[in-house]
Amino acid sequence: MSAEKKNSPKNAYKYQRVLLKMSGEVLMGEKEFGLDSDTVKRVANDIKEVVDLGVQVCVVVGAGNIFRGVSGSAEGMDRTTADYMGMLGICINALALQNALEHLNVPTRVQSAIRMDQICEPYIRRKAMRHMEKGRVVIFAAGTGNPYFTTDTAGALRASEMDCDAIFKGTKVDGVYTADPHKDKNAKHFDQISFIDVLTKDLKVMDATAISLARENNIPIVVFSVREKGNFAKVVKGDGKFTVVTN
Ligand code: GTP
Repeated sequence: MSAEKKNSPKNAYKYQRVLLKMSGEVLMGEKEFGLDSDTVKRVANDIKEVVDLGVQVCVVVGAGNIFRGVSGSAEGMDRTTADYMGMLGICINALALQNALEHLNVPTRVQSAIRMDQICEPYIRRKAMRHMEKGRVVIFAAGTGNPYFTTDTAGALRASEMDCDAIFKGTKVDGVYTADPHKDKNAKHFDQISFIDVLTKDLKVMDATAISLARENNIPIVVFSVREKGNFAKVVKGDGKFTVVTN
């Protein structure tokens, strides 16, 4: 545990500091593309509920609602250019989330892995930690700042750097199943599963680089449904349905 975190006040829950990783698609709600303002507000409110529990929160969001680097490259665009476009999409989502959180009086800071000083702070690890200790939600934008790395990997990297107690991976489903529960009604839910099993069974919780990073740094991944209102706080408190991926 870092010296800074040890000195922070403790809450009554298992997690003192968490990273929420969400895909960009979550923010488009029922739309086909872009941002749905009611959904952004609802997600911001879910984050506020966790902050109100005394848990330090940082967020990594994707950009699939705006631009997917991988699909751009599949359509003939250079992969690096497509990935940089995706990173800009993340920044749009980060600013939307910041705006929604601040409308709820939740202090936030956006830190970008690619400098855009007029828009947000650059990523500085120690500063990000300090912000969280002061109860601010830190939204990490622009992924890792490198092409060929997913936002899942950015999430696992930032969670490692921030000494987070867990990565909360918000998905469409309430955990990890033996098969896609939307397609296979016999799919079984795991309450807990090991990193190795996720990798060897190719369960697609996060990409393999992200899983390996979380595993090496011993950061559990809590997979839960981010589509249900209030579920983030519920799962942080240990209630409801979710899967914990651990060593
Ligand atoms: P402390 O004073 O250390 O608690 O943190 P602080 O973030 O409030 O202080 P700072 O003076 O660094 O920032 C004041 C405001 O300016 C905050 O809203 C920051 O997000 C913003 N800010 C700081 N650095 C930058 C930057 O490089 N670019 C942009 N766009 N905003 C910044």
